Amino acid sequence: MASDPSNDLLDSLIKQYQSLPGALLPLLHAIQDTFGFIPDRAVAPVATALNLSRAEVHGVLTYYHHFRTEAPARHVIQVCRAEACQSMGSSDLYAHICATTGCKPATDPDTQATTSEDGSISVEPVYCLGLCATAPSLQWNDRQYARVTPARFDALAASHQAMLAEVSR
Ligand code: FES
Repeated sequence: MASDPSNDLLDSLIKQYQSLPGALLPLLHAIQDTFGFIPDRAVAPVATALNLSRAEVHGVLTYYHHFRTEAPARHVIQVCRAEACQSMGSSDLYAHICATTGCKPATDPDTQATTSEDGSISVEPVYCLGLCATAPSLQWNDRQYARVTPARFDALAASHQAMLAEVSR
């Protein structure tokens, strides 16, 4: 993931996608996959390249919860809030994750993200990770985990801490 959303990289993504039919969603996904979010300054060139208004691009960005308009936390934990996971305890898991990570539970955890005070961890709702048969599920940055009990979450958190310690050595 590029840490610096450079104009050259943004322009190259726009050129790569602009001639595709229905290019807006694939282009927005590519921008987010590259930068981790959709920078505000991407809206105007995307709109111009696809012959759309800025309001149309902004409308799509705000309609889909998947798209971020700000740089994500270092750790993004997406907890599945869809039916199979709810029936297998994802609400209790969410509460445990918030308590463990220091994130204040969101007023509406079904639609809102919450971020720790130091900005390093965010917990977000997501609707179905395709792991319904092994619910409850979550995604920690780019990796998915199934059958996540609070105890399993604690083990995952410990392994992430260990990985971070390795990387920072
Ligand atoms: S309902 Fe949670 S992974 Fe499908």
